[in-house]
Amino acid sequence: MGSMFTNSKLFLLLAVALLSTPLPKDANTVSNAGPEYTADAQLKLPENYREWVFLSTDYHPISDPLKMQKMGHDVFNNIFVNPEAYKAFVQTGTWPDKTMLVFEGRRAESVSMNNQSGDVQGSIEGLAVHVKDEARFPGKWAFFGFHGDKTAKMIPVTASCYSCHAARGAVDTTFVQFYPTLLPIATSKDTLSAAYRQEILNAAPITK
Ligand code: HEC
Repeated sequence: MGSMFTNSKLFLLLAVALLSTPLPKDANTVSNAGPEYTADAQLKLPENYREWVFLSTDYHPISDPLKMQKMGHDVFNNIFVNPEAYKAFVQTGTWPDKTMLVFEGRRAESVSMNNQSGDVQGSIEGLAVHVKDEARFPGKWAFFGFHGDKTAKMIPVTASCYSCHAARGAVDTTFVQFYPTLLPIATSKDTLSAAYRQEILNAAPITK
């Protein structure tokens, strides 16, 4: 009895000691809290993005049909956002500074079981990050495309990524119209872009 008490007391002491020990600052750890860059201005891949908030998966993406034809197969696009930015969006209907949205493209693979067939997600084919860093980028946002490395150079602002997102994204250059949990929030907080509101008006059936 006495030794059991001692053991559990020891365990408690150990637990308290562990909890109160500050975590060592590991240079390789990328935090959730915001974008991190290398000395030569490349974005570090937020490696834990799979622990972030899931926004949507698009199949047969409309954003890049030509590329899809070239690859000869379909792709699923999974979209994640860092939890801090998600929480702020729920409060305000728009993105705070240091938002990071990850776009993960996965190859669609056909499978069958009991004479039924379907498509599931296979390997990663593309990984892009959309970052809001107001002090760093003149346009507030920047895109980075990862090609198997853990760092990526910024995509030049002349690329079509910027013009399509700015013109067509429903909230602050992002495609909130396709993220089903976010669109109602943006609608009720009245943060939809003027261009997107006009697009809805144009698409609305004429009733007389
Ligand atoms: C013709 C319009 C268009 C172009 C060009 C385009 N996108 Fe997108 N993008 C979309 C749409 C639509 C979505 C919503 C998700 C989907 O449909 O797959 C999206 C979503 C994203 C997202 C998820 C976060 C967000 O902003 O909503 C990222 C990241 C992204 N695109 C990166 C890029 C990059 C990098 C490029 C350029 C290489 C690019 N996009 C070019 C239309 C476009």
